[in-house]
This record gives sequence, C-alpha cells and structure tokens, in this order.
Amino acid sequence: MAKASANFVCQSCGNATSKWSGRCDACGEWNTITEEVPLSQGPGGKTLGATRGRKVALSDLATTEAAPPRTASRIDELDRVLGGGLVPGSAILVGGDPGIGKSTLLLQAAAAFARAGQKVIYASGEEARAQVRMRAQRLGLGEAPVQLAAETNLRDILTTLEAEKPGLVIVDSIQTMWVDNVASAPGSVAQVRAAAHELTTFAKRHGTSVIMVGHVTKDGQIAGPRVVEHMVDTVLYFEGERGHQFRILRSVKNRFGPADEIGVFEMTGGGLAEVLNPSALFLSERGTPAPGSVVFSGIEGTRPVLVEFQALVAPTPQSQPRRSVVGWDGGRLAMILAVLEARCGIPFAGLDVYLNVAGGMKINEPAADLAVAAALLSAREDIAVPPETVVFGEISLSGALRPVGQTENRLKEAQKLGFSNAILPKGGKATGKSGMSLSQMPDLVTLVGEVFGAG
Ligand code: TYD
Ligand code: MG
Repeated sequence: MAKASANFVCQSCGNATSKWSGRCDACGEWNTITEEVPLSQGPGGKTLGATRGRKVALSDLATTEAAPPRTASRIDELDRVLGGGLVPGSAILVGGDPGIGKSTLLLQAAAAFARAGQKVIYASGEEARAQVRMRAQRLGLGEAPVQLAAETNLRDILTTLEAEKPGLVIVDSIQTMWVDNVASAPGSVAQVRAAAHELTTFAKRHGTSVIMVGHVTKDGQIAGPRVVEHMVDTVLYFEGERGHQFRILRSVKNRFGPADEIGVFEMTGGGLAEVLNPSALFLSERGTPAPGSVVFSGIEGTRPVLVEFQALVAPTPQSQPRRSVVGWDGGRLAMILAVLEARCGIPFAGLDVYLNVAGGMKINEPAADLAVAAALLSAREDIAVPPETVVFGEISLSGALRPVGQTENRLKEAQKLGFSNAILPKGGKATGKSGMSLSQMPDLVTLVGEVFGAG
C-alpha cells in the first residue's frame, strides 16, 4: 500500500517518509528532511482506478515517422555530448557545482544555436538582464540573436514561451523557478520537481527543446537535480576542479545518444574554449617520467583519452596510514592495495598512499586498475616505468589481468601521441597493427617481476 502521508521529503535525495527525522535513511545526510505538501491528490482522496479517465490512443512500433532533424551548435564538444546535436522537443538537464561555468557554457550554447538558425530564449532566474548582457559582451556574443528574460515565475515564463514559440529555451536555474500552485519555497524538492515536470511537459507538447540548469549542492539546503534526472531525456554534468581550467561536460543519461560521452573545455578569460585533443592537454604538464607516474590509455565515451596517474607512497608515523585519492574511486584503490598485498606479497601497511589523476580528470573505468597498480608499485619501489609506455587492464581479485574493450583504439591513440610501448593483459584483441611494442602479462605477479624486479 502506498504511504498516504509520506510528505516528509529529504531535500538532498528526494526520499519521502511519513515522519520527520534528523538523518535521512536513504542518503545518510543530516538535517535535510522537511515537510512538503503532496504534489497532487485525486478527487476526494480516492485511488485513480475509482473514477474513469479517457481512453488513450495506441499505435504500433512500426510507425514511419522520420527522425526529427537535429540542430548542431557547431561547438563540436557540445554536439558530440548531445549525441550529434539538439533534438527538437528534448528536455536536458545540465548539473554542476555552483561557479563551475554552467551559465557561461549555456550562454555560449544559446548564441551558437541562435546562429545556427534556432529561435532561442535564455531565461535567467539568477542574474539580472544587465548581468547576462555584460557576460555576453565579455564572451563576444553581444550580437547573437538570443532573447533574454529575467524571471522566476514559471507560469509567466510558460505563457511567454507559448506566445513566442522558440526552438530552444534555457532555464538558469531550475532551483530559482517558482511554481505558484505548489506551496513550498523555491528550491525545495516539491518546487524543483514541479518546475521540471512543467518544463518537460511543455517541451514534449510544443516541440521546444528545454535546457535546465541544476546546481548540485552537498549541504542539502537546495534540492539537488537528482530528483529531476528521471524526468528529462538527457542528463549532462559539468565537472572540473576549481584550481584547474579544464572543464568536462559528461553525459550520464541520454535517450538520443550514447551516455558516458565527454566534451572537454578550457575556461579562459573569454569564456569556454573547446579542447579538441584532450590527451595532449592532459599530458602537457608531464616532464620526464618520474617514479609514481604512469600514463593510462582510457576510453571516455567514444574517444580514447590518455591521462596520467600519479602516486606517492611514503612512510607514516600514524598507526592509521592515509589513503587519499583524487579523480578515482577510493574503494577501488583499497581493492588494488589488497590484491598487491595478498597476491604479490607487497604490503602497504605503515605507508601513506596518495593517488592523483593529473589535470582534474575523473576516471571511472576498471581498465585503469593496472595503471594504478603500476603507479603504486613504481612509487613504492622508487623505480620509474619504462619511458614512452602506456598501461591499461583490469585486475581481478585473484591477481589475474583481464583484457579490456577497445584495445586497438587505446593503442592507436597512444601511438599518435608518441608512445611506443604498452603494458596490457594477455589475451586481449591486440593485433600489433598499431606498431606499438606490447608487453602482454597474464597477472600482476608478472608485472611486479618484469617491470619492478621485486616480489
Ligand atoms: P558561471 O558560468 O557563472 O558558473 P555557474 O553558472 O556554474 O555558477 O561561471 C563562473 C566562473 O567562471 C567565474 O568564477 C568566473 C569564470 N569565468 C571565466 O573564467 N571566464 C569567463 O569568460 C567567464 C564568463 C567566467
Ligand atoms: Mg550560473
């Protein structure tokens, strides 16, 4: 039975409960639960089946409607992440930390789509018109045919959209939008959910593409865009480290294209610039190979990307040694340390371990296991891996190495960037066509013996 009074909602993850508590059971955040008025109640509180609705038209799968044409912004990094351009009537969420550059990216996108012939409206609930105009001037977009609106009342915005019939509307941000028939504060889960629902429905009904900006906040004060993710067609995250100028636009869900695709940008004084060769960028700060540094040949979406893993292993006076990771998964690091200890007899007890992906990149692929292991061993033994070498492969708990997908693409990218050796698992589909010299290894013990001469 559905909970009739489940109207205490966690502002962080959207989990609903029937009573208040200090800590959300679902996501573990503190002080995030507030009471909200339920979104809708049927007439007299009856279940849906009790009153009859209208019959819905059904159709078969084989309808021959041509796929609607996509609009390309000609910002290649953006178009690729969208799956080849903007699909009419699609709802897109762009999430990211405050200040990472979402408004900048979307203003540039608005101008690009406008120049490609779309009618574009940019509705800002955060900045005044003058502020947006000033930013446009700075970005050199002052002449772009984009219509501006500074408004937070969604009813007014929808009325305007209905009259203007734009091809694309950008709503910055979904947390500032206010739906006047929902009785809670702007930014609450109920408001964010209602606003996203209204905009998504509008997109489908009128064939207008909607891009919504959503701030991701950890303190739970403003509802995260997670509650919106299931409603929209495409979810993009704009990521990056504050200290670095690289920004990565990553698709985590896309009904019209591949997920896990990335677009790489660089934040410059004149806005975001496309980075067409990310491998060269991520390796640009690399000097001569030092112990602890290993180049990983990864696949991001449909593209191979080379990144550098850096490890530092140092004795610690503490009884609890530190395990610090930036850009990779901490749990996966613990697993690799355990495998090195259990299968290769190389202990890391009493040693602090720091692991870092250079350039502020985040890596999720298990294929990076072997590169991480090589970086850790190299740092611990103080032996640099052979020069001009890339490493990739997955490590299983037994210490065996498992081949990974797209071996040939990884090798080709490495060769293109001047690498000549690769350390990879045995049994992959490496044909040697790439001209790289390959060291194929069956297990981690072989790596330890052959590359680091230890054991
Ligand atoms: P912004 O797009 O306002 O971030 P968000 O909308 O995600 O909150 O970006 C803000 C940051 O970007 C700000 O710290 C300054 C920087 N920035 C540049 O470095 N160059 C530029 O041309 C612009 C417009 C912003
Ligand atoms: Mg902004």
